[in-house]
Amino acid sequence: MACRFVVVGGARDGVGKTSFAVNFALSLLKETRKRVMIVDLDVSGVGDVAALLGITEARTIAEFLPYVDQLTPQTFGPYIQAHGTGVGVLPLAANPQAARKVAPEGIRKVLDLAGPLCDYIVIDAGAGVDPANIVAMERASGIFLLASATPTSLAATRQFADHLQSLHFPQALVKFVVNAHDAAGPLPREAVAVRLGRAALVVLPRDDTLTLDAALKAAPFVMDAPRAALSRTYDELVRQLVEKGILDQLAAVERGRGQSVDQHRGVEVTQEQDKAIEGFLKSRGGGKTGRSAKEMDNRTRLKMLIHKRLPEVLDLKRLDREVGGRPDRDKLLRERAEAAVAKVLDEEGASVTDRNERRRIVKEVCDEALGLGALEDLLADERVTEIMVNGRDNVFAEINGKLRKTEYSFTDDAQLMAVIERIVTPLGRRIDEKSPMVDARLADGSRVNAIIPPLAIDGPSITIRKFAREPMKVDDLVRFGSLTHDLADLLRACVQARLNIVISGGTGSGKTTLLNVLSSFIPEDDRIVTIEDAAELQLRQPHVVRLESRPANIEGVGEVKIRDLVKNSLRMRPDRIVVGECRGAEAVDMLQAMNTGHDGSLTTVHANTPRDALSRLETLVMFAGLDLPSRAIREQIASAINIIVQVSRLSDGSRRILSVCEVSGMEAQTITMQECFAFKQTGVDAQRKVIGTFGPTGFVPKFVSKLGELGIEVPRGIFAAPGQATTPRGRA
Ligand SMILES: Nc1ncnc2c1ncn2[C@@H]1O[C@H](COP(=O)(O)OP(=O)(O)OP(=O)(O)O)[C@@H](O)[C@H]1O
Ligand SMILES: [Mg+2]
Repeated sequence: MACRFVVVGGARDGVGKTSFAVNFALSLLKETRKRVMIVDLDVSGVGDVAALLGITEARTIAEFLPYVDQLTPQTFGPYIQAHGTGVGVLPLAANPQAARKVAPEGIRKVLDLAGPLCDYIVIDAGAGVDPANIVAMERASGIFLLASATPTSLAATRQFADHLQSLHFPQALVKFVVNAHDAAGPLPREAVAVRLGRAALVVLPRDDTLTLDAALKAAPFVMDAPRAALSRTYDELVRQLVEKGILDQLAAVERGRGQSVDQHRGVEVTQEQDKAIEGFLKSRGGGKTGRSAKEMDNRTRLKMLIHKRLPEVLDLKRLDREVGGRPDRDKLLRERAEAAVAKVLDEEGASVTDRNERRRIVKEVCDEALGLGALEDLLADERVTEIMVNGRDNVFAEINGKLRKTEYSFTDDAQLMAVIERIVTPLGRRIDEKSPMVDARLADGSRVNAIIPPLAIDGPSITIRKFAREPMKVDDLVRFGSLTHDLADLLRACVQARLNIVISGGTGSGKTTLLNVLSSFIPEDDRIVTIEDAAELQLRQPHVVRLESRPANIEGVGEVKIRDLVKNSLRMRPDRIVVGECRGAEAVDMLQAMNTGHDGSLTTVHANTPRDALSRLETLVMFAGLDLPSRAIREQIASAINIIVQVSRLSDGSRRILSVCEVSGMEAQTITMQECFAFKQTGVDAQRKVIGTFGPTGFVPKFVSKLGELGIEVPRGIFAAPGQATTPRGRA
């Protein structure tokens, strides 16, 4: 038989825990004739166990802890003090100072060693919970809580049991033992049950003389006076526990430990529970993509049940009113919610006994009920840069440029919808069948897009571009191999020389990141106006005005477009205009601004090659409806833009500058453009990492002379292709 651990604890001191532990252990010994040991872990009552047993000298845990790692159950055996009755005894320490030094880890090791040597280990755990007795409770087959027979002690004990529940200990393990040692008269059983919230396992009758006598003689009464009523109560209790196999049942509860619900076949959801889930699903409208209770795994069903019952035990609105104004509001809400969820989980999922699994379920449900559900962990994970959710079961995240499916999921589509609503509602936005897509921003600045059924066919979908608290710097990009040192220096020179630069790239290719880096090269005394759809740029210069466009409100009015902001910015006397992305008619105004003295401006366009970027701009200008002939548009583009930098996300997830082109002018109907730097991919290595070289093409751009005029040094030979002699212009 595997060892059964019985933990004796309580809310307070002085309720008879030690006396119970000792007499219970001895009664177990009498009844079962098995190997029983008492371990004293009570820091505030050091030596009490030994005193009740009349033991004056015993080796303590504190004493042999320094070399506990060298011990085996065999060599550990002699450290257990054998009492005359046959019970083994292991005290914590000789004095309180030494007791306090015993770390929980040490206790864990000692219990591991002692387990194989005993059939029962009764642990006097002292009052309250602390890291040391949690170690004991974690392996308990039963946690016996001692209470005095007074209304206050009973109420405190019940609260203590609730506390254990919120620490994810199954209530099924917890048994109440009421000690009538200080009761003036017999307390009615019902009164006890009411205050405890359920019946006590046993009520120990009062017998002052017997207890005092036993203490004075250091001879426990179950041995010394077996016929006394109090002693018989113990024997009867033990007989019942053993006969009915209660400790074994509790140990069966314990067998689920170390297993998640999915692994633990013992977790069952009853038909009744399934019905409750179905009703719940219906009440929430289910939705086309909803599934029935039968289709869910047991873990999801459990979470569902908890969600269903949560409003019964937790009135979030009221709670929010109570603690709303307090600075620790979020923490308080979370604490209360966790306690409530732990309680419901314990009731609905008694068979989930692994504490860590309980903790996980409680966290997941609370994340869904209060926060952003499965997104919480991913948002907190610094390594994650992007998160994508395609319906409840498909949560993807990008780490180190690689997009992977995560193990996270949402309990159901309704939870996912609730999370989306929690994101958009505080921003005054709405998402429903009428307006099924929305852009929003999280409190930390992360960019969110959500789109829901009927537009999203397989369930609500979320895309998050996480806001980088520490935006990438030029050195980071060089380190990642996105560009070379030389190129970084050249681009810095170009920005300082007020060249107009367009960054071109596909979705998520790193345009905004590079724009931020290039903007950081703008001198401190320039007045900068930034214009974006969702503010992502993080400029450090002192003189920056940040503008953000605005979608129409719920009534469909109040829209302010990027174009309006660009026009307005021209009246703000900017030295530089930085537009997050040109994707509409604002291209016209941007080009005009670049052509009319606001040079040194920067923007990005969505295109896959520099040539495409030019045609894209042309198309955008045509959209503006000015009815310009295309030659005029091209001339404007050619004279406005100096440089196009092409970025791309390669097959291995790395983001790189692929090309730097100079826009040099017009030839007949076409804009002329020369590539001066290019990345040439030569292949992929065994890890599928892209290999290739980045370097000058040999073409020396015309703007070099402009840099020279401004006295901006460009390193010699930077434009020379390998093996090519430096051309005179390259030395500018
Ligand atoms: N050179 C780089 N190396 C590694 N990661 C990068 C690099 N540039 C950007 N990233 C990361 O890639 C993600 C996308 O970057 P960014 O927002 O700059 O792209 P974008 O092209 O502006 O995207 P969108 O088209 O959605 O506006 C971000 O998480 C960013 O941190
Ligand atoms: Mg961007």
